[in-house]
Amino acid sequence: MMKAHNAVFGIPLLMVLLAGPADRSSAPVSYAEVQRVLDAKCTRCHVGPDAAEGLRLDSWESVISGSRHGEAVIAFDADNSLMFELVTKLVGGPHPTELESEALTEDEAELLREWIDEGAPGDSGQIPFAEADQLLYAVDQGEAKVSVIDMETNMVIRTVDLQALGFPAFALPHHVAVEPDGSYWYVSLIAGNAVLKFDRENRLVGRIDVEWPGLLALDPTSDRLYVARSMASVNPPHRIGIIRRTDMTMEEMDVFIPRPHALAVARDGRSVFTASLSVNDIAVVNPEQETVEMTTLAGDRPHVVINFAVSPDGRWMVGTTELTSQLFVFDLDRLPDLTPVDAIDVKTAPWHPVFTPDGRWVYVGNNWDNSVTVVDMETREVAAVIEGNGIAQPHGSAVSPDGRYAYIASRNLKMPEGHTKSAHVYKPRYDLGDNAHIGTVIVIDTSTRTIVRIIEIEDYGSGLGTATRRQ
Ligand code: HEC
Repeated sequence: MMKAHNAVFGIPLLMVLLAGPADRSSAPVSYAEVQRVLDAKCTRCHVGPDAAEGLRLDSWESVISGSRHGEAVIAFDADNSLMFELVTKLVGGPHPTELESEALTEDEAELLREWIDEGAPGDSGQIPFAEADQLLYAVDQGEAKVSVIDMETNMVIRTVDLQALGFPAFALPHHVAVEPDGSYWYVSLIAGNAVLKFDRENRLVGRIDVEWPGLLALDPTSDRLYVARSMASVNPPHRIGIIRRTDMTMEEMDVFIPRPHALAVARDGRSVFTASLSVNDIAVVNPEQETVEMTTLAGDRPHVVINFAVSPDGRWMVGTTELTSQLFVFDLDRLPDLTPVDAIDVKTAPWHPVFTPDGRWVYVGNNWDNSVTVVDMETREVAAVIEGNGIAQPHGSAVSPDGRYAYIASRNLKMPEGHTKSAHVYKPRYDLGDNAHIGTVIVIDTSTRTIVRIIEIEDYGSGLGTATRRQ
């Protein structure tokens, strides 16, 4: 009797467990089913030129093109898609019940989830943004994720979840580097003690163990990817890593300074620059000859150099200093001497600097000031200081290849006690119960120097990297 019972009920039960609770059936959801739900419960307010928040929900194309603020759906990631989050967990009642409209039933919400997790395909199976080729990778350090942003629409189009790949929630991804042709990208995991390699389709294709990795710098003239050490470690190796990108093997090279953090490569690939977080020393590494030359920055106080950026023509390098709040300018024609030729006062604790493609401007977020400084490299003067909602402990920076947009990632953690701007944190547009401290990537229009969009990402925005071409 028991045996018969198991034979009949045991096997289907096992199949249900394997399939997981989110699976209604094995057949993929068709977009027509999704549209029927949207037509019944949503399009009343989300159609035409007056659609709420500019979000039209009357066709696949309009759903995918999002609202005036950004994406409604991130393909393959229902949990982080605003459209799914709002209708399931908006605090005060699932949307649109706060507007006294009927909520989705559990089955309808589940249908939406499945459709998004299957890639949010259209009627003919097309996957949104499969052909996007202007990509910005934004690291979500607090959640072991990387958000992929399309720079043409400035929307999040994919999420790479490192936990789903077996890494711990506290892996602390930090910085990202991208092949010039966009074919692969790399991310450092501070606490995961590794550098990972992903392909264009965000498949993990390689990894190398690295102790306390932090910033990355890719040499476009060779197969080398350099890695320095995270600020999170007070006594990491006094060495930088030299990774061979094709096979992800690594050698380490002594740079003779404690806590090597800042990192950049000269355009000709012949020099690599790193600076110490605890002493005022900058090391110039010649990777071919395996030599290191040292420059000591003047000053009795520690500067704490955070990061470097090299100008597109290769002539200049800038470096930010956390404790003296300056942007140093270095003339690379004078190598190996790296005595600054200029020092520009910016706001408190400038973080990652970035040049515009024409070399004229440098953008840098001031971490403890919630502002972004724009420096004119011709006059060597501050051209603008940008403040505004969305800038909350700015960290990583990037510029679109056409120079149209500058991007600054924000951590949005609480400021240290007693800090003048401690109350200034970014408040997400919707209270979803668990998103009070989400990170942002602000989009600055470089022609007007105004914030044109606040892209909400996951927790703690840190490093940014861009991919410009498709292979
Ligand atoms: C009664 C009108 C109404 C209905 C019905 C409605 N919405 Fe909305 N929707 C709004 C308004 C108004 C907002 C702006 C935020 C707010 O006031 O809550 C909004 C905001 C949104 C947003 C966020 C857009 C953004 O980027 O800020 C999404 C996503 C959304 N709605 C999806 C839906 C879905 C899916 C449905 C159907 C289940 C739906 N809405 C039904 C009126 C409506």
